[in-house]
Amino acid sequence: MKTDLKKNRLYFDYNATTPIASPVTDAICDAVKNIWGNPSSAHGLGVRARETLEAARTKVAALIGAKPAGVFFTSGGTESNNTAILGVARALSPKARHIITSQIEHPSVMSPAIHLMEQGWDVSFVGVDGKGLVDPSDIEKVIRPDTALISLMLANNEVGTIEPISEITRIASRHNVPVHTDAAQAVGKIPVDVSVLGVDYLTIAGHKLYAPKGIGAFFVKEGAPFGQLLFGAGQEMGRRPGTEPVPLAVGLGAACEFAGQGLEDEARRQGRLRERFYEGILGLGRPVVRHGDPANSLPNTLSISFVGLQGAKILEAAPGLMASTGAACHARSVSISHVLSAMGIERDVAMGTLRLSLGRFTSEEDVDGAVSAIGEALRGIKKA
Ligand SMILES: Cc1ncc(COP(=O)(O)O)c(C=O)c1O
Repeated sequence: MKTDLKKNRLYFDYNATTPIASPVTDAICDAVKNIWGNPSSAHGLGVRARETLEAARTKVAALIGAKPAGVFFTSGGTESNNTAILGVARALSPKARHIITSQIEHPSVMSPAIHLMEQGWDVSFVGVDGKGLVDPSDIEKVIRPDTALISLMLANNEVGTIEPISEITRIASRHNVPVHTDAAQAVGKIPVDVSVLGVDYLTIAGHKLYAPKGIGAFFVKEGAPFGQLLFGAGQEMGRRPGTEPVPLAVGLGAACEFAGQGLEDEARRQGRLRERFYEGILGLGRPVVRHGDPANSLPNTLSISFVGLQGAKILEAAPGLMASTGAACHARSVSISHVLSAMGIERDVAMGTLRLSLGRFTSEEDVDGAVSAIGEALRGIKKA
């Protein structure tokens, strides 16, 4: 089965989700048909399922430089992030009562942190600069003797900014505080190595790297405090019980292999395409503001604002172009993304934001087609 991107050439929303790569689909279909035993069964079919599951785990671990024993499968990024925040809180409670995170995290980090606040925990939401970067010294300033965890994303989903995680883990280790990174947007796009980062926990989301939705993974460093969310029959080394979704795990393994192939060359290629996109947009002659820091960001992510316009209106006027905006329109108001707000982007500018995210299947022609589509949309809006 091939992906249908030929029909959807102007897909620029890879940070929302990626198409499933053909080798991934093939591996899943094979597992659905042939590997249907329960990995906990002692007979032949069970053993085959167990071996298949472990082979998938090894592939996931390899992409992040981890040992297979440190990786377990989850349902996706949201579950992995909840596991980090709520699990570590449970493991270190009642001695610890404080968590540090940032103002630009995904809701799957923000919401469990807020849930803890409602239960009497303190949470420090550290701010960012105009490029979306956390200052490690701001993290150090809020560490307390009762801090359970620092949770900071590796790369931001909206503007692509890459956070200084290694520097933060060096600070955290001086204070004996474990660190979690939400790497949902980074894994498969840039090299990620848990030892280089020095993190205790890391989140992977399958559907951001060419696997299907409903599968993800969580890395836990040996010896790091851990508290599970689910209780059951002890699967996944007791960390995430429930009969394992072998075909989905196979899909994630195949996706990690796929995304890992030529990763650095591919990152450079996407970086060049992104700059071509930006140059093309500048060529449209409208006032544009670029968000984030191109020198320190995911190579696939271009976040720009057309000043004085609304991102949603531009997309409406550009049929076929699939991308995201930086603001959501409600009945009578427009709410600006919490990431752009934390970066101090003015409302008028933030409203005109488009997030254009590229991927493995994006070509130069696609980029040029998207620039033309945006150009035409802008001309249409002017006339209206
Ligand atoms: C940075 C980040 N973390 C976590 C998630 C949640 O992942 P999932 O959709 O697999 O639950 C997303 C998805 O948009 C994300 O961008």
